[in-house]
Amino acid sequence: MAVVKADAYGHGLPQVARAIAPWVDALAVARVAEAVELRKSDIGCDIVVLQGFTSRSELADCAVNHFLPVVHTETQIRLMKEEPELPVWIKVDTGMHRLGLTSSRLQDVSPVLNVVGVMSHLANSDQHDHPMNKAQLSELLSCARGLGCPLSIANSGAVLSLPECHLDWVRPGIMLFGASADGREESRIREAMSLTAPVLSLQSLRVGDSVGYGSTWKASEACRIAVVGVGYADGYPREIDGGEVQTAAGRRPIVGRVSMDMLTILLREEDHLDVGDQVTLWGDGLSIREVVAWAGTVPYTLMTGLTGRVHREYIEP
Ligand SMILES: Cc1ncc(COP(=O)(O)O)c(C=O)c1O
Repeated sequence: MAVVKADAYGHGLPQVARAIAPWVDALAVARVAEAVELRKSDIGCDIVVLQGFTSRSELADCAVNHFLPVVHTETQIRLMKEEPELPVWIKVDTGMHRLGLTSSRLQDVSPVLNVVGVMSHLANSDQHDHPMNKAQLSELLSCARGLGCPLSIANSGAVLSLPECHLDWVRPGIMLFGASADGREESRIREAMSLTAPVLSLQSLRVGDSVGYGSTWKASEACRIAVVGVGYADGYPREIDGGEVQTAAGRRPIVGRVSMDMLTILLREEDHLDVGDQVTLWGDGLSIREVVAWAGTVPYTLMTGLTGRVHREYIEP
């Protein structure tokens, strides 16, 4: 079950879904609206809605479009009287305390719903030796014992590092796009996305000249900088202080504050960068893992934080 919620983790929902659908048994999104978008893009495969429906009309959307919603609250169970035959997944809370029925409710509810699977979600799959992983797995196995339906608990962290959690269905998200949840290098997967931006302008600075808002960086000697057309309004984190970009000549440091539409990099004397040349923010030669470390975040936020004005181009592998 390929998890393609949040615009396929920022990679573009219909494009990713079309590319991936032939290889998977189902797609999963968070919300009914995302699933509707998939059907509108002519995606015919099974679509699991991880948060399920939140109203009568969303339940009707699920029925009409043959979505497989996840049922996780009593309110949804009550609404299900309107569509008693609709195939559903049930989510049980095995310790994360986010979404899920209690284990004891699972046994009451299963006979009255058309249950195609039971899932739970791990709170710490990015730390493979965390004791909660084992505890959550055994809770799921024991509460679903005797029901005879397919089980699922593994997201990317568990797909990569916890084989005992694979069960009947796995639900990878971030790893489909080549990143590991814990930000560590993972040789079995390759990053899918490169973020690039053009050089907008070149500037020569004298000793003591400052760059950007707050004048946080000052030239200690005469130098040249390039202004690059990407900023926090594109999703490049403003928090980055001390990061680098990849240019045709190699890595160059970001100097001064990242602003809304631009950032500045320090060039070397021998660099022949020109206006219009592309600079890589992450991707080829500069892993998103490094950017994540500079920004003090996780790959999820960088990927999903790319905004609508970033032009996406898709390249056949
Ligand atoms: C219920 C559920 N399953 C699977 C996933 C995929 O997780 P990951 O991107 O860590 O693989 C998510 C993502 O948050 C989720 O909420």
